[in-house]
Formats: sequence, structure tokens, C-alpha cells
Amino acid sequence: MTPALTFHHVTKRYDDTRRAVLDDISFEAGAGRAIAIVGRSGSGKSTLLNLAAGIDVPSAGEVLADGRDLAQLSERERTAFRRDRVGLVFQFFHLLPHLSVRENVALPAFIAGTAAAEFEPRVRELLERVGLADRADDDIAKLSGGEQQRIAICRALVRRPRLVLADEPTGNLDDTSATTVMDLLLALVRDEGATLLCATHSAETAGRTDETWQLHGGRLERP
Ligand SMILES: Nc1ncnc2c1ncn2[C@@H]1O[C@H](COP(=O)(O)OP(=O)(O)OP(=O)(O)O)[C@@H](O)[C@H]1O
Ligand SMILES: [Mg+2]
Repeated sequence: MTPALTFHHVTKRYDDTRRAVLDDISFEAGAGRAIAIVGRSGSGKSTLLNLAAGIDVPSAGEVLADGRDLAQLSERERTAFRRDRVGLVFQFFHLLPHLSVRENVALPAFIAGTAAAEFEPRVRELLERVGLADRADDDIAKLSGGEQQRIAICRALVRRPRLVLADEPTGNLDDTSATTVMDLLLALVRDEGATLLCATHSAETAGRTDETWQLHGGRLERP
């Protein structure tokens, strides 16, 4: 089976004169694996996720998604790839404050031109999975942080992405909400057969994934 994501000798420099943030990194993220990326602040976790999402391109080496080199795609194709194949979850949720819970979850499907009749059952199913079906018509701003992150996870999954990238998804939550959110994220990606890369500072969060990789000095250290 083609790995969901492959880094092949990837180096990333933001500035030619400085040390590479990622220095000749190679790995394969197996389909359906849940992987935690740990490392100090500034070690390059977000950089790695941005390259995986095709938001940014490497200075050298290749990033392959489903076996396709993202750098070979046009900007437009890369955007389409991100929309169709990748689900993103962020530390500060990035939900739209003037939309309802239901509209926030549906947004990626709506933007992609999916018919409402098709995405509505999916939105309902996901809201039920995260225990927030009864809040579907609420304003998103009424929800707590942990609830908002559960909604952000639904939004990331609404189009059934093969790859889910989460950058500190529990970083802004108290311990109890963090546990709930991480449980749901892991259960959902497992049920959907998606691959998860999750940057985290939390040893507790990392401990619940299938594998933990550490970024240190630009290199990726794996057990
Ligand atoms: N757009 C950018 N331009 C220049 N330097 C950048 C840029 N983005 C990140 N960096 C630098 O790259 C290094 C890695 O940053 P990155 O955000 O990937 O780290 P991180 O591991 O996600 O840190 P944190 O845990 O604080 O989120 C840092 O030294 C940062 O200053
Ligand atoms: Mg970061």
C-alpha cells in the first residue's frame, strides 16, 4: 500500500544563512497510523506539518502524498489536494464566529461544491460522534474551547481526508477537555482509516498514539 505521506531527504531553510529547520529528513507515514510529533518549541513541528499539507514547499528533497510529489503540482493543484485529501486541526480552532456549529462543520464540503443532500447526513453523523448533535444550530461562539475543538475535528473530517494534520490540538485546553478531544480525534481517524500526524507538547497526548517521533536539531529521531 502506498504510504499516506513520504518525506524523502527533506530540508527546510527559511533563511539561507541560518541552520536548516529540518535537515535531511526521511520517513514514511503508514496508512492508518496515528503518529505524534514531539520536540521543543522551535524544533520544527509546525514547519513539518506545513510541508505535509502542501502549505509550504521544502528547500530540498521531496514530500509525497499518496505517492505524488507535491512540488510537481501547480499552486492550484496543491490547493485542490489540500482541500480533497487533507484535514487540518489547529491549536486555536480557526472556526468562523458568525456561523452555526453545523455550518462550520459543513464549510469545506460547501466550498468544494458538494450538494447539501450529500454532506448533511455526514455533518450529522460527525456531530453525533463527538456528542454535540444537540448544538448543531447554536452559534459557534457559545461553545466552550473543548467543544469548539470537537467541532474543528468534525470540520477536518467532513470530506473524509486520507491524512489528518493536527498542530497542538490540545494546546489550548484544560486537561479534561484535552483528554476528551484527543480520544475523539484518535477514535475518528481510526474509524475512518485516516493517517494522523499530531504535533504536541503533551507527553500524555503523545502516549496515546501508535508512534512518537521526536524533532531535535533538525533531525527526526524515531524509536
Ligand atoms: N515563516 C517563517 N519564516 C522564518 N522562520 C520561520 C518561519 N516559520 C518558522 N520559522 C522558524 O523555524 C523554526 C521552527 O519553527 P516551528 O514553528 O516549525 O517550530 P515548532 O516546533 O512548531 O514550535 P512550537 O512548539 O513553538 O509551535 C523556528 O526557529 C522559527 O522561528
Ligand atoms: Mg508549532
